[in-house]
Amino acid sequence: MDKMSPDSSWTPMAGVAADDDETTWLRAQELIWTCVVPMTLKAVMNLGLLDALINAATDGRALTADELAAQLPAVDKAEAAFSVDRMLRLLASFNVVNCSTDTGPGGEALRRYTPAPMCRWFAGNHPQGSLASLAMFAVDEDYLRTWHQLGAAVAGDGQVAFEKANGMPMFEYMGTNRRLNTVFNQAMAQQSKMVISKLLERFHGFNGVSVLVDVGGGTGATLEMITSRYKHITGVNYDLPNVICQAPSLPGVKHIAGNMFESVPNGEAIFLKSILHLQNDEDCIKILKKCHQALPPNGKVIAVEIVLPTIPEAVPAAQNPFRMDMVMLNNHRGGKERTEPEFAKLAKDSGYTSVFRATYIFANYWALEFGK
Ligand SMILES: C[S@@+](CC[C@H](N)C(=O)[O-])C[C@H]1O[C@@H](n2cnc3c(N)ncnc32)[C@H](O)[C@@H]1O
Repeated sequence: MDKMSPDSSWTPMAGVAADDDETTWLRAQELIWTCVVPMTLKAVMNLGLLDALINAATDGRALTADELAAQLPAVDKAEAAFSVDRMLRLLASFNVVNCSTDTGPGGEALRRYTPAPMCRWFAGNHPQGSLASLAMFAVDEDYLRTWHQLGAAVAGDGQVAFEKANGMPMFEYMGTNRRLNTVFNQAMAQQSKMVISKLLERFHGFNGVSVLVDVGGGTGATLEMITSRYKHITGVNYDLPNVICQAPSLPGVKHIAGNMFESVPNGEAIFLKSILHLQNDEDCIKILKKCHQALPPNGKVIAVEIVLPTIPEAVPAAQNPFRMDMVMLNNHRGGKERTEPEFAKLAKDSGYTSVFRATYIFANYWALEFGK
């Protein structure tokens, strides 16, 4: 059995070393066709193929494309199996699934698939959270078309690409597109689960807090996790009415609908996860000042944000935050990722004078404490 491993070396023409033209050409092709991978991934997830692989692997089974196609409603199962095999071998080449190859009865290659370690993030129900809804949102047709406006937006009149495509800011638009709003809220809640479970392991700034307000807290998943760990904390989840109306009832969490630019509920600490990166500096200061008014004299803001490295190196730990910075450029007027000194300046300019502390959490996320 020939096992394809992620690091097995392969040269396109045996005995001919790749020259610089070939290396850069292949990298350029990789960039140009990047969207093929998430589009294929989305189709494979929607067809239930990844969940089928994950379930089979719990009994130690690897599945062939024929076995996977048998569960699809396709009329021509053989044709469907051929397509499934082509989709999964692409995903194998990107380490989403593992592939082992045998020789079939007619001498043909017979591939069997199992989930690779990365695959767990695409399962619908991983206890640590999932990236499945985010994978759906990132290439959603109503969202993807906003990216076609990026160049015009940069050279234009100050409207960002999302506004150019939809005629209004992103969170206003979400109130008009219930389907996309649901995908987005699920994506945020599921992605936050992982970051928050790491936060609960690595950050100890909730001790001594009895009322914690999560401003822009989505449907309350973050506060549910925090209040389950810190039973003495009462959670107040604060978000726009179109989000709060989708929020489930959660133990230890009270939901309040409102606008953070107008007011923020009182609490001993205010949690802001992935909120400051949506705003320009002026709006961050407005929000932070509203939080300042809602805090007691010894209160603090806990902002959980991606922190940008200063040097754009070609490594995932830099590519990920710089990619998120592009997402902010596309989606939100003035939205951007920031470096640690930029966050410290925002805190100071908003009147937080006692403490600025940064704790690393996970995958470029930091917990930033601004003491009043
Ligand atoms: C990027 S999401 C972050 C959600 C959540 N904090 C998380 O990290 O999973 C931003 C959230 O801010 C909310 N939001 C945007 N503008 C708001 C406003 N003016 N007042 C209150 N919430 C707002 C959005 O509805 C959304 O739930």
